[in-house]
Amino acid sequence: MTRPSFYITTPIYYVNDAPHIGHVYTTVACDVLARFKRLDGFDVFFLTGTDEHGQKVHKAALVAGTDPQAFTDKVSQNFRDILPIMNITNNDFIRTTEPRHKAACAALWEKMKENGDIYLDKYAGWYAVRDEAFYGEDELTDGPGGVKIAPSGAECAWVEEESYFFRLSAWGDRLLEFYDKHPDFIQPESRRNEVLSFVKSGLRDLSVSRTNFPWGVPVPGDEKHVMYVWVDALTNYITALGYPDERSENFRKFWPADFHVVGKDILRFHAVYWPAFLMSAGLKPPKCVFAHGWWTIEGQKMSKSLGNAISPHDLVARYGVDATRYALLREVPFGNDGDFSHGNVTNRINADLANGLGNLAQRTLAQIAKNCGGKVPACGPLSEADRALLDHARIRMLPAVRIELDAVRIHKALEKIWDVINAANAYIDAQAPWTLRKTDLARMETVLYVLAETIRCLALIVQPVIPEGAGKILDQLGRAQDRRTFAQIDAAYALESGTLLPAPQGVFPRIETDEKKAAG
Ligand code: MSP
Repeated sequence: MTRPSFYITTPIYYVNDAPHIGHVYTTVACDVLARFKRLDGFDVFFLTGTDEHGQKVHKAALVAGTDPQAFTDKVSQNFRDILPIMNITNNDFIRTTEPRHKAACAALWEKMKENGDIYLDKYAGWYAVRDEAFYGEDELTDGPGGVKIAPSGAECAWVEEESYFFRLSAWGDRLLEFYDKHPDFIQPESRRNEVLSFVKSGLRDLSVSRTNFPWGVPVPGDEKHVMYVWVDALTNYITALGYPDERSENFRKFWPADFHVVGKDILRFHAVYWPAFLMSAGLKPPKCVFAHGWWTIEGQKMSKSLGNAISPHDLVARYGVDATRYALLREVPFGNDGDFSHGNVTNRINADLANGLGNLAQRTLAQIAKNCGGKVPACGPLSEADRALLDHARIRMLPAVRIELDAVRIHKALEKIWDVINAANAYIDAQAPWTLRKTDLARMETVLYVLAETIRCLALIVQPVIPEGAGKILDQLGRAQDRRTFAQIDAAYALESGTLLPAPQGVFPRIETDEKKAAG
């Protein structure tokens, strides 16, 4: 039987900067969805990479006094190096300077041209290098010294040059029709309205080539032009599947993408320009563009000039990879803006991982080691409370989590899992197996069995978010590597009484709070 397919992408990151928490946020979120789908039986393609052309990267290379190719080789590697540190399971890493990508861009360009959507003219207007975006006069405000400022806060400069244009103005009605037919195309809902009103207000043709710097994919047949970096960048999503070979196995299996996950600042490029380019080239638009919010740091915008960008390396060194992944996704509803504070992260890790899941596993496994000879305990007749907890963990949890993740409500999915953890911690307190040890050994074994089974289901389902810790718990429950998919949450794969288990060990250490450190 062929497995259903699932294609998810991160934005490709500009190589003008070191990776920071904003970048790894998207990548970790996509990784959770990719891992979840794999464990849920899907054939997954998960793509990330680097966006290496354009004026912004060219400028950064000039400032560094390096040739742009050598510069992008170095910075792209920094983005690649962060992936194993964050425990990311991408299937491919694309660089826009690769030959396969240049070929895909040229092919897409030719298709759009054949369709009559590309013409040569002159661009005279405003451009913000920081955003790599063109702006209309009406969108700008006056900054200090008369500098024009884009809505994003980026400085704009006046540009006049010969340029190819994409006939975007002709695509407005077809885009609106497409949004209408695919109500889930833009998520969350609030973002959809923003895009709709932008398109309804009338689209101008888009300048899609530049001539005043050389660092880009050459325009086929007119090599003094390089393609506008966003045409080049967006194409990465099909390059990686083998485009222009539309019959290649991956293209047929994975296009259209299930999710392009992006930050809210780059939604317009993905939800307006990209589907128009694709439709013009006779290709299907992606199924969904999901825009997440932005992080501020302890109440401040994250910026180079403030020097407050948080490095993922530092976070992992301080909290560990699982806790970092968990905190990034649990603190803020995915889609909303959020403020990062070490105090909140520490509290969250201690409450949910150390006290919540960690403590549940630790006290259950320690009692099994001490009072059941280190073997999976026997399971006697089940009480109503036993059954309620087991049904919650084995039957109700996965469908509930699936619904939330299919809608990319990652924080809600975590809530559904933690509902079971909280129920299990309440159960252990109510059943008090440590007291049963003195009064009713058979019942104590049943209670510990029910808990171990619940922990088995929990460890299976948290694997996408906290893969290391989940793996350690599954090791301690003696689960073989080939018994860790979601289909095996089912009671048919329950723990077998009498199986000898490895010695238990703590999985999620408590993080010392700053106040405690100071007091100590
Ligand atoms: N190169 C383009 C994307 C091309 S995709 C075809 C780009 N690159 S970027 O490096 O500037 O940004 C990449 C992603 O990081 C964007 O989705 C952006 O929203 C995200 N973030 C950058 N700073 C962020 C925060 N402070 N918080 C959350 N995400 C942020 O745009």
